[in-house]
Amino acid sequence: MSEFVLRTENLTKRFGGLIAVDKLSFNLAGGRLHAIIGPNGAGKTTFFNLISGLLTSDGGRVFFHEREITGLKPHQISRLGIKRTLQIKSVFPQLSVADNLWITGFAGQRFLNPFRAASGDRDTREKVERTLEQIGLTALARRQAGTLSYGDVALLEIGMALISEPRLLLLDEPTCGMSPAETERAVTKIQELAQVIDIIIIEHDMEVVFEIADDITVMAQGAILASGSPEKIAADERVREAYLGREEDEDYVEEEEVHA
Ligand SMILES: Nc1ncnc2c1ncn2[C@@H]1O[C@H](COP(=O)(O)OP(=O)(O)OP(=O)(O)O)[C@@H](O)[C@H]1O
Ligand SMILES: [Mg+2]
Repeated sequence: MSEFVLRTENLTKRFGGLIAVDKLSFNLAGGRLHAIIGPNGAGKTTFFNLISGLLTSDGGRVFFHEREITGLKPHQISRLGIKRTLQIKSVFPQLSVADNLWITGFAGQRFLNPFRAASGDRDTREKVERTLEQIGLTALARRQAGTLSYGDVALLEIGMALISEPRLLLLDEPTCGMSPAETERAVTKIQELAQVIDIIIIEHDMEVVFEIADDITVMAQGAILASGSPEKIAADERVREAYLGREEDEDYVEEEEVHA
C-alpha cells in the first residue's frame, strides 16, 4: 500500500530568472489535513499549478498515489482525482447554486453516451444534492450565485471541485476575504470534508492554520523552510523569524481591507 497520497521530488519552476519553485520535495500522507503557509510570492500557488498541470515544470517529478503524473495535462490530472479551487473565485453568477454544481458535475462526466443520458442525469442530480449537503448550501440551492454572500460563493466553489468526487482537494486561500463568521463556518466545513477526502490547503490566516492542520509546510522563496506538526512549526525559530515581520505589516493590512 502506498504511504503517501502526493509526493514531489525536486519539483522546479522558473519564470525567466526567477525560481518560483525550487527543487521542492513534498510528501502528503493519507488522511491528514496539510496546510501550506508562507509569505506572498513564496511559490505556494505555483506549486498547486504544477501539481494540477496548469504549469509545466522545469524539473522534478510528481507522484499521485503510486502513479507518476509529471507532465500530464490538467484534464488528465483532474480525471485521476485531483481537484482544486482558485485563489480568485469564479462561479457562474447568473446561474443558481444548484445549476453551477450541475454544470460542473455534468462536464466532469467522462463521455456523454446518449443511451446512458437518462441515468447520467439521475446520477448528476444525486451528486448535486449530496454536494449541496456537504457544503451546507441545500437551503440556497435555487438562489442565483451572483447574489450569494462572499462566504457562500467560496463554499460553492469548493462544491464545484467536490462534485466529481476527487481523491485530493487543493484549496488556495479559501477563507481569503471572508468575515470572521464566514471563516468559522468554512473552517468547520473543511474539517468535515477532511474526514473523507485528502486536502492540502494554502492559508494565510494563522489562527485557521493552527486550528485545522495536522501537518504544516512552510514555504519561502520557492523552497520548504520547515515542515511538521503545528507544535513543531510554532516552536521553529526560522519560521518565527520569517513571520514576525509579516504579522506586523501584512496581516493587519489584510484585516483592514476586509472590514473596510
Ligand atoms: N505566470 C507567472 N509569470 C511570471 N511570474 C510568476 C507567474 N506566476 C507566479 N510568478 C511569480 O512567482 C513567484 C511565486 O508566486 P506564487 O503566486 O506562486 O506565490 P504565492 O506563494 O502563491 O503568493 P501569494 O501568497 O501572494 O498568493 C512570485 O514572485 C510571482 O510573482
Ligand atoms: Mg498564491
